[in-house]
Formats: sequence, structure tokens, C-alpha cells
Amino acid sequence: MGSSKLLCVIGVAIIFLQLISGTSGWGQHGHYAICKIAEGYLSKDALDVVKKLLSESAQGELAAVCSWADLFAVRSHYYWSRALHFVDTPDFRCNYDYTRDCHDSSGRKNRCVTGAIYNYTLQLTSACHNSVSESRYNLTEALMFLSHFVGDVHQPLHCGFLGDLGGNRIQLHWYRRKANLHHVWDTEIIDTALKNFYGSDLSIMIEALRKNITENWSNDVESWEECEGNRTVCPNPYASESVSLACKYAYKNATPGSVLGDDYFLSRLPIVQRRLAQGGLRLAATLNRIFDSCGLISNMGRGVHGAYYA
Ligand SMILES: *[C@@H]1O[C@H](CO)[C@@H](O)[C@H](O)[C@H]1NC(C)=O
Ligand SMILES: *[C@@H]1O[C@H](CO)[C@@H](O)[C@H](O)[C@H]1NC(C)=O
Ligand SMILES: *[C@@H]1O[C@H](CO)[C@@H](O)[C@H](O)[C@H]1NC(C)=O
Ligand SMILES: *[C@@H]1O[C@H](CO)[C@@H](O)[C@H](O)[C@H]1NC(C)=O
Ligand SMILES: *[C@@H]1O[C@H](CO)[C@@H](O)[C@H](O)[C@H]1NC(C)=O
Ligand SMILES: [Zn+2]
Repeated sequence: MGSSKLLCVIGVAIIFLQLISGTSGWGQHGHYAICKIAEGYLSKDALDVVKKLLSESAQGELAAVCSWADLFAVRSHYYWSRALHFVDTPDFRCNYDYTRDCHDSSGRKNRCVTGAIYNYTLQLTSACHNSVSESRYNLTEALMFLSHFVGDVHQPLHCGFLGDLGGNRIQLHWYRRKANLHHVWDTEIIDTALKNFYGSDLSIMIEALRKNITENWSNDVESWEECEGNRTVCPNPYASESVSLACKYAYKNATPGSVLGDDYFLSRLPIVQRRLAQGGLRLAATLNRIFDSCGLISNMGRGVHGAYYA
């Protein structure tokens, strides 16, 4: 292989790796925390359906499959799902507009995180209310995608600017290590908090979030769960909140080449923690609305476990 050809191969590999990292959501810890919080707020109906839809390997735990969309969406069979993890706004616009912003890089409408949340909600609701003979979608996947994307839309930089790919192109230092800004918000803030404050034990941080939900945030919880006009799902306000937080906190003082340390970490951590809690409560509220008196509960006994189509 000539050296220019080799360089080309390396270049393609680097672009490919960037594309992969560009699609990931909260790191696995963030998604786990969101889904673990959601589990605690599911109604009996919702919990029954969720348990039936989960694949056997999840062992009845929704949180166990909430990173599935990141871990498997990188496989070629799921390439089509890469654009569904985020929605970016035009550069330096701190507001979000579904019609303007929800498309993939080739301009195909509805192919973004909020479009995907509508999509998978509709698949699950129609399966609950229609006859099961209209087999079409894999509802196990619909549940895993929905649970993942409700998490993603709460990560402020999943609703960041197009030009820097939601912070992926902003190279800087997280303390002494090289990182990009997107990864700081997916993973580094949470992992640094785990290490510094929670003895590297995710369950202790989740417990602290739960405590805040019932104590410090109890007045806000009802409004977080609300969906205007009694709709089943309402991802648009979540995306609007995210881009506004991206401008106010994520991009602020985080220009290329900067070094982020204690000042940034300690002031942004409460934002991250609040988003994890909101994501969890809103996922539960959405699943409760979808699965309220869902016809699948009675019909599902006949489906193949974890592989149910409707
Ligand atoms: C909707 O879900 C189907 C099944 O997973 C998928 O093929 C399609 O690309 C999805 N579209 C959007 C916008 O999420
Ligand atoms: C609730 O907020 C107060 C004041 O900000 C704080 O002292 C307390 O530790 C918080 N509770 C939790 C569970 O974080
Ligand atoms: C929402 O639903 C509740 C109960 O089903 C009803 O009382 C209320 O009027 C509805 N609100 C709107 C805005 O439709
Ligand atoms: C709990 O809430 C307080 C503010 O009310 C915030 O400072 C703190 O970071 C929160 N802790 C967790 C674990 O959410
Ligand atoms: C539905 O999706 C899950 C997860 O990808 C998979 O394990 C299962 O085999 C699928 N079911 C069918 C019938 O293809
Ligand atoms: Zn994701």
C-alpha cells in the first residue's frame, strides 16, 4: 500500500471513529442512572408491560438495556439510527425549533432525537391500542430506543450547535487529560463526581438523586412530568431546555484549548444531576402514559419472550 493510500485509510478510520463518538449519549453511567430512577416511578401497568418487553438478558431491569442504543447502534445493521441520538441547532442559536432542526445531515425530516422519541412512542401506543395481528415493529427495540433517547435529549450538548457537532469538535483538557467538550458532558462530569463524592459507587449517587427528588426538588417534580395538552409524550420542551443549558453552562468558558477544572466541574455538576433526575422522571411519566391500560398486557402471554411484535 502506498503511503498516501495508507494516510487515506487512517483518515477514513479517524472520521469513522469521530462519527461513532458523535452519536453516543450520556455515558453508560448517565443512562443507567436515568433508567434506574425511572424504574422507581413506573405504575403497575407500565412495569408489567416493560418487564414483558425486556429481553431475557435484562433480567427484568430496564436500566440494564438503556445503553443498548449506543453499544449496538455502532454496528452496521443499525447505522440508520445514528442521527437519532441528537438534534443540533444552527451555530450560536440558543433556541430549538423542530421544523428547522429535526433532520439528519442529508436533510431528511424527523431524523433526530425528538423525532425518534415521537416515532417509538407511537409504535408502542399503537401496539397497545390496535389488534396484535398488525405485526410490524420489534417492540423490545422500541422500548430500548425510547428509554435511551429520552435520556439523550436531556444531555444539553445533544442539543448543541451543528458546526462543532454538539461540542465533539471542541478539544480541551478535563483537568490534566485531553477530552472533547461533548465527552465531558456525557461522561467526565459524572465520573469525576462518582470518584470524588460517591466512593465510585453509582448506586450511592442514584440514592442521592432520589433523595433530592423527594426533598429538594419536590416542588418542581409535578411540572417536570407534565405534558402540555395531555399529550402522551412531549420531547420538544426538553430539547429547548437542553440547548438553553448548553449555551448558559456547557459552552460557556469552554473554548477550544481551555483547561476545565474545579470551577467548571463544581458549577456544572448540579446541572447534570438535575438533568439526570428530570430524564428519569419524564421517562417514567411517558411510559406510564403509553402503557396505561395497554392491551398488550393481556395479549402478550402468547408472544415469544423478549421478541414480541405487534
Ligand atoms: C422509526 O422506527 C423505525 C423502526 O426502528 C426505524 O426504521 C425508523 O428509522 C425510525 N424513524 C425515526 C425518525 O425514528
Ligand atoms: C438539599 O439542599 C440543601 C441546601 O442546598 C443541601 O444542604 C442538602 O444537602 C440537599 N439535599 C440533598 C439530598 O442533596
Ligand atoms: C387532561 O386530562 C384530565 C383528566 O383526564 C382532564 O381533567 C383535563 O381537563 C385535561 N386537560 C386538557 C388540557 O385537556
Ligand atoms: C441536590 O440538590 C442540591 C440543590 O438543591 C444540589 O446542589 C445538589 O447537587 C443535588 N445533589 C444531587 C445528588 O442531585
Ligand atoms: C427484537 O429485538 C431484540 C433486540 O435487538 C432481539 O434480541 C430480538 O431477537 C428481536 N426480535 C425479533 C423477533 O426479531
Ligand atoms: Zn445516545
